[in-house]
Amino acid sequence: MLESAPMKRSVICFGAFILALFVPQKDGRQAPEQVAGAPTQYVIAPWAATDLYSTDPTHPWNRLFRLFYVRATPNGHLYGGDELDPYLWQQTRYLLQGPSHDEAVKLLNGFLQTHAEQLITDPLRRTLMQRDLWAVYDWVVMRKQDHPEAALKLLKPLGEIIRRLALTQDQIQALPDNYQTAVRAKDFPSNADAAHREAAFLPDLFNPDGPWVCVGQQKERPVAPVHLEFFQGRSVFLVFLRLPGGRNETLAYLQQLRKVPSQWAPYPGFPPDSPARVRSPQAQQFPVGTSVALVRQMVLMSEQGEFVPTHLTESVQLRVYRAIDPDPRRNYINSERFRAQQDVFEFRLDRRRLLAGENSLRAVGASEKEFPTFMTHGLDDFESHTPPQDAPIFRCQGCHYDPGVQSFISHSRAHFRPLPDPPPDLLESTPEQEAARDAKWRPGHPELNTELAKR
Ligand code: HEC
Repeated sequence: MLESAPMKRSVICFGAFILALFVPQKDGRQAPEQVAGAPTQYVIAPWAATDLYSTDPTHPWNRLFRLFYVRATPNGHLYGGDELDPYLWQQTRYLLQGPSHDEAVKLLNGFLQTHAEQLITDPLRRTLMQRDLWAVYDWVVMRKQDHPEAALKLLKPLGEIIRRLALTQDQIQALPDNYQTAVRAKDFPSNADAAHREAAFLPDLFNPDGPWVCVGQQKERPVAPVHLEFFQGRSVFLVFLRLPGGRNETLAYLQQLRKVPSQWAPYPGFPPDSPARVRSPQAQQFPVGTSVALVRQMVLMSEQGEFVPTHLTESVQLRVYRAIDPDPRRNYINSERFRAQQDVFEFRLDRRRLLAGENSLRAVGASEKEFPTFMTHGLDDFESHTPPQDAPIFRCQGCHYDPGVQSFISHSRAHFRPLPDPPPDLLESTPEQEAARDAKWRPGHPELNTELAKR
């Protein structure tokens, strides 16, 4: 689906990369040993996984979470444990063969036989466990063709445990809204500050009278189809737009956008024979100071087998436009230029803080490293000895480098043209409406739900 960019070159590797090594401490935990000059902050905290669900590291819930969410490099360094998504790629062999597969089968079946799902009744913990196992389940479904036998041995118990962990509709409705908790905590300013461009801000996106407008597509289509499909309907995605003049200016601008005929047009800056298309390149540009947001929220499978959106926010991505260069190619090949034009921020769910009832949205720091899993080429970073990469906020450029409104992909679909659909016409919507629309994706793909649906 990703159309090729004007210049094929790595956009994600800039700046010197320095690997953080891990050495065991006396208490068995792993502490980061940094190469001189390297940043001290990191995304990776393997010990985070040993006592997430219970202080007993051998608790079956802790063991399952650790097996699926912590990976070891070939030389034994551990990573993971507090990542949103498991370190599992399209080509991963981990869990599908060898000792990790045997261990997975043993742990899953042991969990079922001992009814370990009954050990923890707290709805929030059950929510997290279901969500985390569901991501693994979906990954195994994707690998079924290559490893039919091994996949089935995992899918059956995974499906059964996911079902046993399910909450009732009432319990799901009573789950907390961690976005509101985060806004109320005021750990971050609520507005972007042009004088402190590096400062992460967390706006009150959900205020229906506020300056941020939740946008949707006409014709009942999801507004963020690439994300929805990549995460296979386990999350809903909400898009918000804010022009500097506030709500009225934003609504008026959306109307302007819709006035330009909705058709695919050649992409400015690409060679004439390129198949790349965007929606209406002649659209009126939005002003400097415009901001966009993308919120990912959890979907759960209920006791009745329904797919229910929640108010549990898993991530928030923000981009603020500080300058708009009309040449689409220049930002792509020059990260300095991109950063001069857009400020980017990301917040992610911190499981521990959520369970502690604290503000659970954590700003991802510019010095953090991670193993990317979103829209990669599918190579397993652990099995291919690939070191962790620069912070996610340095990768936004790869897909959002176009000038102004052209990099507002929900509108322009630049590089992500969802054929055969016509180009989008965006209009004001509500988070409830968009979430309900996205939650229909999963029942529309019954082939993914075979082992989830069995009763
Ligand atoms: C691999 C490509 C890719 C990368 C990298 C990427 N995005 Fe996006 N992003 C998309 C696509 C595609 C959409 C459009 C929605 C959809 O179809 O899912 C989008 C949508 C968005 C939106 C909603 C507004 C819009 O442009 O449509 C925001 C905000 C956003 N991304 C922020 C970020 C931030 C911040 C980063 C870096 C931390 C980032 N993105 C990295 C592909 C990417």
